[in-house]
Amino acid sequence: MSEPLYHPLSIANLTVEGNIFLAPLAGYTDVPFRTLAKEGGADLTFTEMVSVEGLSREGEKTLHLLERSPLETVWAVQLFLYSTSSLRQALDLLLPYGPSMIDINCGCPVPKVTKTGAGSAMMKNPALITEAVRIIKDHTGLPVSVKLRIGWDQESRNYLAFSQAALDGGSDMLTLHARTRSQGYAPFAEWATLKTLKQYTTDHHYAVPIFGSGDLFEPIDAKRMLTECGIDGVMFARGAIGNPLIFNQAKALLAGQEYSVPTRSELRALIIRHLDLMIAHYGEESACKAMRKHSAAYLKGIAKSSSIKQQLVQAVTREHYLDALNGLVDL
Ligand SMILES: Cc1cc2nc3c(=O)[nH]c(=O)nc-3n(C[C@H](O)[C@H](O)[C@H](O)COP(=O)(O)O)c2cc1C
Repeated sequence: MSEPLYHPLSIANLTVEGNIFLAPLAGYTDVPFRTLAKEGGADLTFTEMVSVEGLSREGEKTLHLLERSPLETVWAVQLFLYSTSSLRQALDLLLPYGPSMIDINCGCPVPKVTKTGAGSAMMKNPALITEAVRIIKDHTGLPVSVKLRIGWDQESRNYLAFSQAALDGGSDMLTLHARTRSQGYAPFAEWATLKTLKQYTTDHHYAVPIFGSGDLFEPIDAKRMLTECGIDGVMFARGAIGNPLIFNQAKALLAGQEYSVPTRSELRALIIRHLDLMIAHYGEESACKAMRKHSAAYLKGIAKSSSIKQQLVQAVTREHYLDALNGLVDL
């Protein structure tokens, strides 16, 4: 009998309860958001991308990214780097935070990052990924995963060769964001490449989980990707912004059940919970500002919410949020 689409899995010596993960999202997957994602059923969560250089300099902002939610009994830290010169030093500073796994970002398309040779520019330098994976594994003994794209651009779609370079270093898991760097985040992710990568690792007898990312916006998309691509798991990214319940919704679907969508009053409670987690983490002033993009995402597509949205754009205190959200009642 074939394995069910939703299943536990091992990443080297790490056992994870299921195969529906929260992707790393810079500017979003902070402690409050990851707490909600855990409550919403994410089996593994990733920090935002953390600079190896910043870490080795013990930058305050960088260290702040390494805080963990109490719900994260297993969690992954994502690093980005362009050289291995300060990697060991950075790892020594990282280890006391107790990550369960370390992921290397080879997908970020932001010029500030790629001009240094980090993020998706790593895909032009396969020797560096082999070396980085090897060093992290030797130095920490932790499982290491690599998150890559199809390639730098259409002329260099080297995801198979680059995956091989990561595997040569001992990578324990691969996540393919099925777009090139030059495709950015535009529709449509090329899911066929996920199937090809899975076939490649199977043919070469690598027993490492292959995860897919790209255009997972609805719970049903997880089922479609798992079914169509034959991969081991999926990572929700933008689909989790404004819906951190998407993990349990996808799991319900995979179990053949209907999933519930929050009522307006449940959505109101969820937004307030998010705000309160943000206030506990950042303080009221910063939290109220940072919460605006999340509120907009929660209210996207919600009928008769335009005046609430208008009020929230100007909200600077918890009280303002509560006042604005009073309008979010069951119709
Ligand atoms: C705002 C934003 C921030 C992101 N930050 C990261 C990051 O820090 N590390 C990373 O590997 N990918 C990052 N990504 C890429 C996502 O993890 C994911 O691979 C991508 O959004 C494709 O999935 P989707 O189409 O389902 O959103 C980011 C994407 C977005 C939209």
